[in-house]
Formats: sequence, structure tokens, C-alpha cells
Amino acid sequence: MIGYASAHGSTAQIGQRIAKVLERDGLTVEVLPLQQAPSPEGYEAVVLGSAIHDQDWLPTAAEYTTRHAEALRDRPVWLFSVGMTSALPRWIRRSAHASQDRRLAHALRDVVCPRGHLLLSGVATPGQFPRWVGTLFRVLGAHFGDYRDWARIEAWAQEIAGELQSTRPLRP
Ligand SMILES: Cc1cc2nc3c(=O)[nH]c(=O)nc-3n(C[C@H](O)[C@H](O)[C@H](O)COP(=O)(O)O)c2cc1C
Repeated sequence: MIGYASAHGSTAQIGQRIAKVLERDGLTVEVLPLQQAPSPEGYEAVVLGSAIHDQDWLPTAAEYTTRHAEALRDRPVWLFSVGMTSALPRWIRRSAHASQDRRLAHALRDVVCPRGHLLLSGVATPGQFPRWVGTLFRVLGAHFGDYRDWARIEAWAQEIAGELQSTRPLRP
């Protein structure tokens, strides 16, 4: 299962792209918004992703991982978080990315013990924020845009597919 929590759609599209790669490798995948997702118990492996708001996963995603922590710890799980550090000016981008990655990976590791966590940048448009945030953004030298790195996303999905294929029991 690939479960996602997305406020404006970019995380959902990343989940769908990951699914395409897994399916291309012969895996059967269901892609679901987390508010509709069942318990992970019916799945062999799970990929969960959330947009980042205010430095954290969206409440739907945080609640899902807490509610199903035990089932998630019992199976292979990969996590991805979608923020917008790539939109920041160069002088702050790398350190902001690294500290956000560290903090999220640490918080999520405590709940579900994932096999991997990928921090990505998604889509940031002025319409998603109050006007003062847009102004602050420009003053800081940040730029709105679509920062999804599809090659990186597909390569990560390919790693997941490889791990799942190598640990799968052979069919008779
Ligand atoms: C209200 C709001 C708060 C946000 N807070 C953060 C944040 O704390 N850190 C970050 O990196 N990105 C933040 N973002 C950027 C989003 O995570 C980014 O635009 C992402 O692509 C959203 O995914 P979605 O299109 O699936 O909702 C925020 C966006 C909004 C609208």
C-alpha cells in the first residue's frame, strides 16, 4: 500500500509515481489517501508519505502512523516527507534541508522504525499561503515553483522495489 496525506495534491502525485515504478517491477500496489486507508495489516509492505506543514507531517498522516504503529513495525515500511526547502535561497537551503531531514527522520523512527525516509521538495505556490508569507518568501530570496525531483523519486522507488523483490518468497 502507498498511503499519502496531501493538502494541495503534490504529495498524492508523488505517491502515484512511486506506485508506477513498483508496478513496472511486477508488484501489486494500492494508492490511497490516508483518511481512507485501512489498517496496514492486510499489506505485505507499506510506503507512507505526507506533506509537511509547520515542520511536521499533516495530522491525518501523524494519526495514522500512531494508531497503526504496531502493525507498521511488523512489516517493511518506507516513509517520504514533502516540504519546500528547495525553494529557499542557496545560502540556507542545504542546512534547512539537513536539519528538517534529521528532525523528521528522528521523530518518525521513534514511531514506526522505517527502512528508509526520503525528504523531498514539492510544489509551493503563492495561493497556498497568506499574503504576508508570500512577501516574507520574496524578501528572503525564496522562489515559488514545482521542485519535485522525479528522477530522485523514481530511483528511490526502484530501491524499494528491489528490496521487496529480493525478500519475496519464490512462487511455486
Ligand atoms: C500552511 C503551509 C505550511 C507549510 N509548512 C511547511 C514547513 O514547515 N516546512 C516545509 O518544508 N514546507 C512547508 N510547506 C510547503 C509544503 O509542504 C509543500 O508545498 C508541499 O509540496 C505540499 O504538499 P501537497 O501539495 O501534497 O499539499 C507548507 C505549506 C503550507 C501550505
